[in-house]
Amino acid sequence: MDLARMLDRCRRDQWEVGEIDWESPPRPLSVADEVAFVQHFSDMAGIERLAAALFAEQRDRASCPVLREVFATFVADELRHADVAERLARRFDVHGYRAYRMNPALVRFTPHFVDTVRHLSAEVANVYITTGELILDVALLRSLNDAVADPVCAQAMERINRDESRHIAVDFHMIDYYSSPAYQADEARRPPRPLRRRLRAWWAFANTFRHAAPFFREVFFRTMDRVDPTGRRLVEAFKRIQLVSAKPQVARRPFVRFLSFMQGTFEHPLLGPLFGPLVVRILGIEARVLVTLTTEAERRRAREQSFDDMAAEALALKHGV
Ligand SMILES: [Fe+2]
Ligand SMILES: [Fe+2]
Repeated sequence: MDLARMLDRCRRDQWEVGEIDWESPPRPLSVADEVAFVQHFSDMAGIERLAAALFAEQRDRASCPVLREVFATFVADELRHADVAERLARRFDVHGYRAYRMNPALVRFTPHFVDTVRHLSAEVANVYITTGELILDVALLRSLNDAVADPVCAQAMERINRDESRHIAVDFHMIDYYSSPAYQADEARRPPRPLRRRLRAWWAFANTFRHAAPFFREVFFRTMDRVDPTGRRLVEAFKRIQLVSAKPQVARRPFVRFLSFMQGTFEHPLLGPLFGPLVVRILGIEARVLVTLTTEAERRRAREQSFDDMAAEALALKHGV
């Protein structure tokens, strides 16, 4: 990837919340829809702020100045998305049926997650960020936009999608970088981190796992069931993650090996029934996306594809599925 060109694109494609025409009133909604949409957008604001915090970590750790600038624009993008989500929540809150607060599971999960990303390796952070962005882009935002069927929301989502396209392209570029021999050689040269820091990292990690399951269930899976009952986009998003993990250089990374081990245990004919529920509890994702979603032919193709092409294909899904 040409990072200098990416940075130009990041700067050129900046936009303002005020560009969106917020004036026209929303269509009439049922009580249940109004309450659900306002809640979804309130949660979306929290997720976007979380994304901003994660990119701020990546920005602070990037050694390449151009990459640091790219991440700085991503932080601005995610904060803008959070503002838009709040505006959308206000827009649909026509009757004020109740007070809306961010989902408590999301509130509990956020500080541990940010802490994990801060203390654990940047590589693990990137796996989470890429996963989160794929889920958000390929599945959640698109389904939410369809369910809401509102021209103002559509305008906002179109702009958000443009930003997210850049994010996903860079997320995949970073996976490529972290699985490269150059990064691994760099890592091998680095002195081991002090025990205190390592314990701190693992403590944050354990807490993330503890809070991940209720967060995914309440903010993500339950919302998806409502806005996309077929579950197609959900499966597509997780499939992208499985495909990138099929690349041998990615599959060899310790964190990806751990995830594959968990999946292997879950699908094992003898171990699955015994330890499956524990795997589901630890990873926090549901059985329907924990199973193998790819075919051998798809995995073979993924192994030969470039990371840029994989990112482009994931992005194309946003419009095609
Ligand atoms: Fe975003
Ligand atoms: Fe993003």
